[in-house]
Parts: sequence; C-alpha cells; structure tokens
Amino acid sequence: KKENWIAPSILSADFAQLGTDVKDVIAAGADVVHFDVMDNHYVPNLTIGPLVCESLKNFMVKEDVKAPIDVHLMVKPVDRLIGDFASAGADIITFHPEASEHIDRSLQLIKAEGCQAGLVFNPGTSLSYLEHVMDKIDMILIMSVNPGFGGQAFIPQALEKLKAARKMIDESGRDIRLEIDGGVKVENIAEVAAAGCDTFVSGSGIFGKANASDANRYDTVIQQM
Ligand code: DX5
Ligand code: ZN
Repeated sequence: KKENWIAPSILSADFAQLGTDVKDVIAAGADVVHFDVMDNHYVPNLTIGPLVCESLKNFMVKEDVKAPIDVHLMVKPVDRLIGDFASAGADIITFHPEASEHIDRSLQLIKAEGCQAGLVFNPGTSLSYLEHVMDKIDMILIMSVNPGFGGQAFIPQALEKLKAARKMIDESGRDIRLEIDGGVKVENIAEVAAAGCDTFVSGSGIFGKANASDANRYDTVIQQM
C-alpha cells in the first residue's frame, strides 16, 4: 500500500478564487488537486474544462505550489479531451470505462501523453473492467456516490469494493493507487483507509468545513484526516 494522499476536490472550492483556495489547501497539508470535469451528458452537471486546468496549473507553477493535478473525467466521449487536459497540465487522468468505446485505447492515449492513467467505478459498475488492463493503469478510483454532485452521502457498499480492488492490486504486484471519491469526511476516513484506500478525495468535507475568516482555514480539517 502506498503513502496516504489527501485529494481535495475543487468542486467545493470558491471558483472566484480557485488559485488561492488550491494554494491554501496544499499549504495546509493536502497532497493532490482533484479536478472534477462534468459534461451535462455523462453526468447531470456542468463544471470546468481544460482552460481552467491550464490557468490553475500556471498559477501553481508561478506560486510554487507543488501538487499533481488529478483530472477526473465524467464525460462521454472520453478520448478527445485527453490531449487537451494533458496539454493543460494534468498529471493523472481517470475516466469511467462505460463512457469509453475503447477502454484500452483511452488508456494508451493517456499514457502516450505522459500522464498517469486510471479507471473510475460508479457504485453500480463492476470491477470486471479491470481484468484485462491491470498492467496499463496507475490508479483505481472507487466512487462512493453516484457522480455528478458534491455533498452527497457516502454509500457504504464502497467499502467492500475497496477491499476487492485492494486484493486485485496486491495480487497484481503493481504500483497502483486506490482512490475513493464521494462523501469522505473526517468522521469516516479511518474506515475507508482500513478498507485499503490510499488516496482520499474530499470536497465538501474540506472546503465546506473551513472557516472563511481564518487565515489557516484548512489546517484543522486536513490534519484530522
Ligand atoms: C462527484 C465528484 C466528487 C465530489 C466529491 O461526482 O466526483 O469528486 O466533488 O465531493 P464530496 O466530498 O463533497 O462528496
Ligand atoms: Zn471526483
């Protein structure tokens, strides 16, 4: 199992001050920026695209904020956005296998761009998609909510799925991160970790809990995680 990473989802950040929100949350101890891309087609919500990713990356370079950008594509089709996000500074790109016509090709496209690649599993999606591509992925993302919105309740069945994915990773002997996304809070992160997770996305649990008037507003919640 790899070193634990906290991955704040910027879906719950203040988009009017996205750069400073990201800078502050990384300074508070978070490890990776989780960047949720929704297309109003694969999921019933619309968020941000490569332009915002590029602006954020430029800001992070300028301000010396060192953290990978983990792009979670909730889009269909998948492939034509891969190059755009890689050029915009993505370090990790994950997608939902049922949203891609050719999963192996999408993974190859991500790797060819020099990014790490991962597959995302909705609460109702089978892990069997992994069977023939374990040697091509760097990350498995288990959704503990149905994708589309921040602030939803954690679906407990995700814990069993995490354990199953952990087993597959261990048996593969490969260096694959196991990420959870949806409803993760200070209150339940310990049991998520116990199920084998090493990368913890949290949106409302981090940005929603911060006290906006406090200069160190993310420190307490990140430290508790
Ligand atoms: C849901 C997104 C998540 C979401 C998590 O579709 O993929 O990353 O922002 O938000 P919380 O932590 O509030 O459930
Ligand atoms: Zn996400």
